[in-house]
Amino acid sequence: MPRILAIETSCDETAVAVVAADAAWPGFAPRQLSSVVASQIDLHAAYGGVVPEVASRQHVETLPFVLERALQQAGLEVTEVDAIAVTCAPGLVGSLLVGLMGAKTLALLYDKPLIGVHHLEGHLFSGFLTEPDLRPPCLCLLVSGGHTSLIWMKDYGEYQTVGRTRDDAAGEAFDKVARLLGLGYPGGPQIDRWARQGDPERFPLPEGKLDHPYDSSFSGLKTAVLRLVQQLQQEGQELPIADIAASFQARLTSALAQKAVACAEALGLSTLLLTGGVAANRELRARLTEAAQQKRLRVVIPPLALCTDNAAMIGAAGLCHWLRGEVSPLELGVASRLPLEGIPSLYLGGGGAHPEEQTGSAAAVL
Ligand code: KG4
Ligand code: ZN
Repeated sequence: MPRILAIETSCDETAVAVVAADAAWPGFAPRQLSSVVASQIDLHAAYGGVVPEVASRQHVETLPFVLERALQQAGLEVTEVDAIAVTCAPGLVGSLLVGLMGAKTLALLYDKPLIGVHHLEGHLFSGFLTEPDLRPPCLCLLVSGGHTSLIWMKDYGEYQTVGRTRDDAAGEAFDKVARLLGLGYPGGPQIDRWARQGDPERFPLPEGKLDHPYDSSFSGLKTAVLRLVQQLQQEGQELPIADIAASFQARLTSALAQKAVACAEALGLSTLLLTGGVAANRELRARLTEAAQQKRLRVVIPPLALCTDNAAMIGAAGLCHWLRGEVSPLELGVASRLPLEGIPSLYLGGGGAHPEEQTGSAAAVL
């Protein structure tokens, strides 16, 4: 059975994993043999957010150790894997470059094929690691610090973004509101915790109204919280943090859950996958599960370690490309942005410009 070594460094986690296929294609049942994640969260907390320069330097320092541990845990040498997969877009350019350079070095040293992976496609594959019988088509609600998207997976390698945020990503909105309330970074887990003791009905906050049924907007909601906080402060009142957190969270999660279920229904899909860091939110999990069950949709929510950034999901996506005969050229570059439709450009014969040619600055660094 094929085995893939995978590297993920697109943001603030340095991660390496080994993933194997348990079944013959197309039911390839990816399974992680090891998965190691070194989080930089404490390093960035002092700045209240990820500092790109700090992130890339830390990846350089940490990657060799994470790689060694992932191979140890899998009980394998690099010579024993079939290919090296690596996140090459989208993400922080400096951070992506560290992972890509590491992957290229291994590919050249050990004469292994290189497989560039789109980070969001990786997130989708956390579902396949969770439930081996999962098959496309399905709808994925991907909610993280950088993304809020509804992705229609029509088949392996065939995706369409059917809903996106017009402004902040959901995780970003959580982080910004947490900051307004004087809570630490990252804010999502703090709001989640405070909201448990709060009254979600106390403050009727507005939900952004859009002309598109599956797009989201959180800036109106965020501004409403800002105004509320300012008003309460002017009145000299102590901030009812739990009630504000609960009211904000209820609005945001109900909007996301309703849109995801309505979208799945409209597309005639029977499976809904929830992933990304915000999938850790207890209320979002509960609301989505309840709304989906009412419509008899299957809901797949990976364990938290697979929802947040990790290399096992990149390995699973890489494995899928490997089984489809898709490998990347060694000249592969990185891109801070790349639509899902650009995925074929990462592979030999895929046509179009691969990321190196799309990002002048990244190409210059290379
Ligand atoms: O996927 P992720 O680990 O990193 C990327 O953005 O790629 O997501 C991090 C985001 C942060 O904005 C964090 O505040 C949010 O996920 N988050 C949560 C919870 N746990 C993490 N948001 C709401 N509730 C949570 N329990
Ligand atoms: Zn991510």
